[in-house]
Amino acid sequence: MAAQTRKDQLHFTIDNVADVSNSRRAGMQLALDMGFQHADATKVAVVISELARNILIYAKTGTVIVMEHRGLDGKRGIKVIADDNGPGIAQLDKALTDGWTTSGGLGLGLSGSKRLMDEFFIHSEVGRGTNVTAVKWLK
Ligand SMILES: Nc1ncnc2c1ncn2[C@@H]1O[C@H](COP(=O)(O)OP(=O)(O)O)[C@@H](O)[C@H]1O
Ligand SMILES: [Mg+2]
Repeated sequence: MAAQTRKDQLHFTIDNVADVSNSRRAGMQLALDMGFQHADATKVAVVISELARNILIYAKTGTVIVMEHRGLDGKRGIKVIADDNGPGIAQLDKALTDGWTTSGGLGLGLSGSKRLMDEFFIHSEVGRGTNVTAVKWLK
């Protein structure tokens, strides 16, 4: 289920595969509307999709927010916030390594997302959940 709260802020509840593709598509469109070049908007879309998919696989349910973001110096960017109350990540350093997976996946979702964005913060507590906040600046 997805609800658009503001033109420049998208909020998605993630609990099925359609939510993953909807958030990806709408996030891509927001990036394009903000003036991101196609290649950078695609990177943002990939990150949204990977984080939403992680929510679905590991936490079953959670939220993804995509919004315009202003840096302290006034520069514009797009911010992706993925949040869940799932199992958390016990070995966070390993989870950020290329190829490391607990699900037989590619193990590139988190490490790739970190590379594709300009800012990438992850906070995870075992038994409590995971929050990823990432920003890409408009060039
Ligand atoms: N939201 C999450 N909740 C719990 N564990 C997660 C979450 N996201 C990622 N992980 C853990 O981090 C690992 C690496 O994630 P990722 O890089 O996306 O690779 P993959 O999903 O292909 O395994 C996962 O295998 C999983 O153990
Ligand atoms: Mg993944």
